[in-house]
Amino acid sequence: MRKPVMAGNWKMNCDNEEACKLACAVVAGMGDPGAAEVVLGVPATALTTVVGCTEKSPVGVAAQNMFWEESGAYTGEISAKMILSTGAQWVIIGHSERRGRFGKLEAGWTDAHVAYFGDSDVTVNAKTKKAIASGLKPIVCCGELLSERQAGKADAVVSAQVKAMLDGISAADAAKMVIAYEPVWAIGTGEVCDADEADRICGIVRQTVAEVVGQDVADGMRVLYGGSVKADNVEGLMAKPNIDGGLVGGASLKAEGFIPLIKAAAASVA
Ligand code: 13P
Repeated sequence: MRKPVMAGNWKMNCDNEEACKLACAVVAGMGDPGAAEVVLGVPATALTTVVGCTEKSPVGVAAQNMFWEESGAYTGEISAKMILSTGAQWVIIGHSERRGRFGKLEAGWTDAHVAYFGDSDVTVNAKTKKAIASGLKPIVCCGELLSERQAGKADAVVSAQVKAMLDGISAADAAKMVIAYEPVWAIGTGEVCDADEADRICGIVRQTVAEVVGQDVADGMRVLYGGSVKADNVEGLMAKPNIDGGLVGGASLKAEGFIPLIKAAAASVA
């Protein structure tokens, strides 16, 4: 039995006051999550605040990115050690917004313009290794662009991303990861991936994990779906055998949007 994970990704939202209010409202309203794990992915500036607001609750706190070096001349970056020093235990790695996989370009822009943060399969792998070695729990993201889906390449793209994130990672370390499948075209668009299709691709993620590090790790791996998850579609997603939770953007920014998702994750194993 895999423990479901319902993770919010607040992205670049919430100053410290707003973060405290939102985290406190989630804690106050969520009830007992049972076997489900609840994680709030908050801006780096709010990590300490949210750790404080959630410390007497089962809610875990995640950073939204990290750098793979311990310390040094890397202006603007934060290390795994720094994240851990706030009390946070999780980190989101390789989100499509950090990989620059937006799926749309402003007029006159090229891929280079939208790859703001430069994450690639190689850097995602380096960050994942460092997170695990440091004792952080990584939620590592994959997902295809609309153009890749339309070209019939979704399965191959996702499988290649999963192979790349696992490169050089032992089975014992891979067992500490959570993988999130987020089709880029479903992020922030209101266009949820059909639950059967999300389940099918999460199954491909699991099968790829099995090929690289073995069936045992694949059987225990939590695979989350992300992309326009909300109260009216969460139950259908959570009912699927290969979907072990959600990575949620917009609906995690209000307690009344996120609490039903926590309850659905809890109910899925009740
Ligand atoms: P939305 O839930 O807003 O579509 O965002 C999904 C996401 O990117 C979570 O990481």
